[in-house]
Amino acid sequence: MQRFDIITGGTARDILESNREKVLDIVRNTYLHHSAGEAVNPDSHFLRFPGNSDSRIIALPAHLGANVRFAGLKWIASFPENTKSGIPRASAVLILNDYETGYPVACIEAATISSARTAASAALAARALRPGGYGGTRIAVVGAGVIARNIANYLHTAGCTPDSYVVHDLDEFSGNALADHIDQTQGVPVDFTADRAAALEAETIVFATTALQPYVAKPFEAGQLVLNISLRDLEPRVILAAQNILDDVGHCLKASTSPHLAEQASGSRDFVTGTLADVLNNLVTLDPGRPVVFSPFGLGVLDLAVGVFILHEAHESESSLRIPDFFGETERW
Ligand SMILES: NC(=O)c1ccc[n+]([C@@H]2O[C@H](COP(=O)([O-])OP(=O)(O)OC[C@H]3O[C@@H](n4cnc5c(N)ncnc54)[C@H](O)[C@@H]3O)[C@@H](O)[C@H]2O)c1
Repeated sequence: MQRFDIITGGTARDILESNREKVLDIVRNTYLHHSAGEAVNPDSHFLRFPGNSDSRIIALPAHLGANVRFAGLKWIASFPENTKSGIPRASAVLILNDYETGYPVACIEAATISSARTAASAALAARALRPGGYGGTRIAVVGAGVIARNIANYLHTAGCTPDSYVVHDLDEFSGNALADHIDQTQGVPVDFTADRAAALEAETIVFATTALQPYVAKPFEAGQLVLNISLRDLEPRVILAAQNILDDVGHCLKASTSPHLAEQASGSRDFVTGTLADVLNNLVTLDPGRPVVFSPFGLGVLDLAVGVFILHEAHESESSLRIPDFFGETERW
């Protein structure tokens, strides 16, 4: 009899929060497997709605071979107006399929997975792209929502703790809430600023806004590292003036991301320096005389790998909800 389990967000969150180092390893290894051709990560499919251009639901199918051998689908909704009623913008489920039979084996609450894998990607890039470390530097966070909070947590776990933080958000309440979170969890000096230009002078800048159109026009300087997680804040000239590290070139040059707009503006992909896997494999030499921008489109295979880890942990601790008789057709004849 095929087994089917549901794993709640609370269970997934507890597993993820006590295993951040492990999640960093899983995400790192998954980038390397993806780069070695051991993953299948087709294009994401965007469902958009007439009369509601800000909202979308995205399907991210993926298969990971290597030592994981699962397939799956993340189905993630983004409704930015939700935050006005105090609920998160993003909500999601992840379906895991057994690779031998194709059967779905679990449904896991996945907004938690999505923010953890996104934050782990940002922290891995932060560690790899500033190998000298974060002592004596400042990190600016532009956009202070759920993703930014997770990134701050993972930067700390990855050892990327700066001398100080500065937080900028159009919404002062959100900005101050993130500043309080960083103060309480990391104990480093942290200020809120309404002055975006001042924030953009930090050595490292994390963009985690919900901007749909670019609004940053001034190129960054040598020595600055930009974690372009929200993907649509930077004008093409800012991308073209930088060295650009992507998670996956084909994925990232789509859907009107800043690198996609830069490709359209320049007519080529020459501005792409390499992928994060190239950096992790020491295949990229960065020029210290130019800024670096990391743009991750967000790969379904990362959700899959983190979801499989949660499934194993939940089975081990018997914290999943097993659904008896989930499947109706149980006999061939
Ligand atoms: N690249 C990836 O893999 C990946 C994965 C998940 C989420 N994301 C992106 O991360 C972003 C943040 O997601 P979230 O769940 O934290 O959203 P959220 O709504 O919780 O927070 C976004 C914050 O950004 C602020 N903001 C919006 N526009 C701004 C601007 N121009 N300047 C300053 N602040 C601004 C908002 O006030 C809000 O506080 C989204 O764009 C989402 O699509 C990327």
